[in-house]
Amino acid sequence: MRNARISGTGGYLPENVVTNADLEKKVDTSDQWIQDRTGIKKRHIAEDSETTCDLAEKASRQAMETAGLGPEDIDMVIVATTTPDRIFPSTACLLQQRLGIHGGAAFDVQAVCTGFIYALSIAEKFIQTGAANNVLVVGAETLSRIVNWADRTTCVLFGDGAGAIILGASDKPGILSAHLHADGAYENLLTVPAGVSEGYENPAFIEMKGNEVFKMAVNTLGRIVDETLDANNMQKSDIDWLIPHQANIRIINATAKKLGMSMDNVVVTVGEHGNTSAASVPLALNTAVRDGRIQRGETLLLEAFGGGFTWGAVLIKY
Ligand code: UT7
Repeated sequence: MRNARISGTGGYLPENVVTNADLEKKVDTSDQWIQDRTGIKKRHIAEDSETTCDLAEKASRQAMETAGLGPEDIDMVIVATTTPDRIFPSTACLLQQRLGIHGGAAFDVQAVCTGFIYALSIAEKFIQTGAANNVLVVGAETLSRIVNWADRTTCVLFGDGAGAIILGASDKPGILSAHLHADGAYENLLTVPAGVSEGYENPAFIEMKGNEVFKMAVNTLGRIVDETLDANNMQKSDIDWLIPHQANIRIINATAKKLGMSMDNVVVTVGEHGNTSAASVPLALNTAVRDGRIQRGETLLLEAFGGGFTWGAVLIKY
């Protein structure tokens, strides 16, 4: 089977920055509480006129340029998002036409904060089997649209953004393994309890039992790290970079500790981006590729946990 390797990355954050001091004026919170409990200092929030597809387009163009590929080279588009532009067509179809890509499959993946990990794993299968050669994989969100800006327990946590990669067929190693999981028994701990079929009697806002989610995230991410290393007969010391979902610095610290990794080898963007759900892992990856920290040939562990619950990890030879 063929290898699936990352040939380009891209990212985009809306220009509008909301600091903790800005939020102190809206709800009963403090910069100190937010930084101590989450590590977040600021987040980027899309303008009303700016949609998930707008953010995805900018990140995708950068990823395609880095990979040296044009629209004619991309034969599949997958967008991981919880906040699609419309009910349908999918954001992937909207993005496909923006980028001038035609004919190949395009679809959205909904696995909330684990969406990009799911999308990457799906893309890998298409490349391995020869069904696709270059897949544009995007995580993009306008989470601010489903945040209750009067609820201090959630509104301080989230931000908007998009990250993208091109996954292409290669004779060099790329994705080494992918591990996806879900357990719908926990659907009520992190949810937006409104939708097309259930209806919109309640406002479509994120509701979270933060403390319970926190504990589950720490335990589950610890387990998936072991699962991924075992599947590859690797030691903790074989991992060069941890690129975790950026929900809370305390969760990231716990996973790094489990891996025995120095925080110098963990990509942390939560302070500047907040939790951007499906966009957080590709945005963090793009940040560390662009600033030169991540080098070709290094071993990367990407992991995420989110609503569903869903969780997953991908081990990559970059
Ligand atoms: O991305 C998907 C996965 N999501 C996550 O992984 C998020 C997981 N959860 C968390 O990150 C944390 O649970 C939170 C950051 C959401 C909350 O931190 P916590 O340490 O679990 O705090 P808590 O919910 O136990 O609340 C502690 C106190 C409460 O007050 P009392 O009841 O002790 O008087 C809250 O009302 O902090 C209060 N509080 C706040 N105070 C100031 C909650 N939110 C705020 C706030 N500012 N924004």
